Amino acid sequence: MDCRSATCPPMRILGIETSCDETAAAVVEDGPSIVTNVVHSQIEAHAPFGGVVPEIASREHIGRMTDIVTRAVEPLGGMEAIDGIAVTTGPGLVGCLLVGVQMAKGLAMARGVPWVGINHLEGHLSAALLASEPPSYPHVALVVSGGHTHLYHVRGFGEYELMGGTRDDAAGEAFDKVAKVLGLGYPGGIHIDRLAQQGDPNAIRLPRPMATLKHLDFSFSGLKTASIEYLRSQGGTLEGQELADFCASLQEAIADILTKKAVAAAQQVGAGGVVLAGGVAANSRVRSLLEERCSKKRLWAFGPPKPLCTDNAAMIAAAGWVRLAGGESTGWDEEVRSRWPLDGLEAPSP
Ligand code: KG4
Ligand code: ZN
Repeated sequence: MDCRSATCPPMRILGIETSCDETAAAVVEDGPSIVTNVVHSQIEAHAPFGGVVPEIASREHIGRMTDIVTRAVEPLGGMEAIDGIAVTTGPGLVGCLLVGVQMAKGLAMARGVPWVGINHLEGHLSAALLASEPPSYPHVALVVSGGHTHLYHVRGFGEYELMGGTRDDAAGEAFDKVAKVLGLGYPGGIHIDRLAQQGDPNAIRLPRPMATLKHLDFSFSGLKTASIEYLRSQGGTLEGQELADFCASLQEAIADILTKKAVAAAQQVGAGGVVLAGGVAANSRVRSLLEERCSKKRLWAFGPPKPLCTDNAAMIAAAGWVRLAGGESTGWDEEVRSRWPLDGLEAPSP
């Protein structure tokens, strides 16, 4: 593990992610760059319930985990090629996290390699490290997913200072709950994104709660409620152009609030740009509006490729690659955490 010279074989890290409803395993090597990346989505198992059912999710992880890990390491000739293991230890659904962590510990013990527990949100931020030209530090990161909508001042890897966050629902939750009322399926963000392509973003004026720049907190529950009330006033659901217009208007309101605050945060701390992370970072309007607003303020904007925005194990392996290369490893008694604020982390030693 200490061998870092040009003649050394590359250090290969197996990443495992099971914090919610994706069973994922990936291998990254020095760069960090992706060697393999396998994601199994449990969408079909949860779809009839309109959201993730924790017990079903844990059982699905148990049923799939071995196959997913095998598919991630097989192209390299198996576990012999792996020098360290990174696994999400929180935040997330406890029963789900335990499946990945037990797998990681067992493999690390059998192979005699170190393992490291990774914060899922640090994982999302580490998707940016997999780019051929990763964004520079310091920057502002907008972590926006089904459970999080937070702005961080990122001074370096592992140095995260919370600048603002949602006081109620996450942006992804607003997308998903409104999509559920529309009968679009779960998770709904991607369906709203698709339908919005044909719609007029100015068709329906939806509220933009907490759009003030006096602070950097968010609130999406009012927008969610106003959207659902609007739908009820229209008879419960919409079709055709009206549906497209509604989706575009909702998406525009969410993108407007998110990007306005992200740009303000970057200006406030004098950062060079904004990194997008998390499932909602895959939203086409959030990406294009951030790009537009950043360039007006001479800031850069970075969004990882869309498949690396939603939950995956390559981002966990990338974070693990940095931490394991810094000599960090986690003890056998480490537990999983349902909550784990990103700003409580420590940077790896230089
Ligand atoms: O990061 P992620 O895969 O899981 C969590 O850690 O929560 O994020 C999932 C969230 C869901 O709310 C989903 O609807 C949303 O990301 N999402 C999108 C898009 N793709 C995924 N929201 C809007 N537009 C998208 N294209
Ligand atoms: Zn996530």
